[in-house]
Amino acid sequence: MSMTSAQLIEDLGGVQSEALDELQGLTSEESLEEWRVKFLGRRGRLTTVLRTLGSLPPEDRRAAGQEANRTKTLLEEELGAARRRVREGRFALLAEQEQIDVTRPGRPATVGRYHPLTQIIREMCDAFVSMGFQVIEGPEVEWDHYNFEMLNIPSDHPARDMFNTLWIDHKDAEGRQSMLLRTHTSPMQARTMEKTDPPVRVVVPGKVYRYEATDATHEWHFHQIEGLAVDKGITMAHLKGTLYEFARRVFGPERKVRFRCDYFPFVEPGVDMSIDCFVCEGQGSVNGSPCTVCREAGWIEILGAGMVHPKVLSDVGYDPAIYTGFAFGIGPDRVAMLKYGIEDIRLFYSNDLRFLGQF
Ligand code: PHE
Repeated sequence: MSMTSAQLIEDLGGVQSEALDELQGLTSEESLEEWRVKFLGRRGRLTTVLRTLGSLPPEDRRAAGQEANRTKTLLEEELGAARRRVREGRFALLAEQEQIDVTRPGRPATVGRYHPLTQIIREMCDAFVSMGFQVIEGPEVEWDHYNFEMLNIPSDHPARDMFNTLWIDHKDAEGRQSMLLRTHTSPMQARTMEKTDPPVRVVVPGKVYRYEATDATHEWHFHQIEGLAVDKGITMAHLKGTLYEFARRVFGPERKVRFRCDYFPFVEPGVDMSIDCFVCEGQGSVNGSPCTVCREAGWIEILGAGMVHPKVLSDVGYDPAIYTGFAFGIGPDRVAMLKYGIEDIRLFYSNDLRFLGQF
């Protein structure tokens, strides 16, 4: 008996609806496999219908073949979807049965914190803020003009040797190197005064750079906090009072301070300030052994300062006959080392969490 393509297509439709009906009720992977064998397997229902394709007259085969392929693809897709459904159902059930053991120790959450230098810089700035200073910041890549010229250090001045400068590969119109990594925060003195009229009271925390070999007490980059106060009638007494108060807040109310003459081209007179050693109380030794913090000196130098040089004032357009001021520069790296008993400055920059986690 010969088939017609209409008959074959009708058979296909029958197999399809029967297969889909059965598939609906299946909930286990085993029953899905049985279904696959029954309809799509080598002796399966669909395959049996497909075998009769060959008995069709050649002109009918094409249409019937296409219909047969469509049915096969559909059943395979439905099987895939049913398998996913069954698998997800099993996971949901597992999750439902899962017990939570409330007695198990929790996983500790690590809490971040500020870098010790950030902490000390903030603490130091806070001390000045409470005395009426404003905190500002400035560029780390600086012009020779602000880093040296405006600070009374012209290009032929020997004081340039005090700063081991890192130059940027950039030349000005006259072919001179004119850009550098700032060697101190002092360039912000002129930058600030150029932009404001007195009174000025600012502190400037930031990074500075020097061409220097590193060791336990030297880094090629470190931090400074610059201070500048300019107004009518500012005297050395204001400088001393302000820095004394700062030392007491950061190093304790018992601290004594000592000022000695020092030289910086942009101040006159210039001083450095020391505090009495807070470990040996200025004695130079603890229980008979030499104090390692002040190296038996009893004093620790912590900053440079002075009265702003009249030339620096007039260069920014302030009249030195009317205005006076003081400036200072402190190294927070050194302050933190002293305060926390850190012996190597390089620890601040090596990012070892065992070190950083202690602060
Ligand atoms: N800029 C000086 C330095 O880096 C420190 C300083 C600042 C001294 C302000 C006096 C006044 O050594």
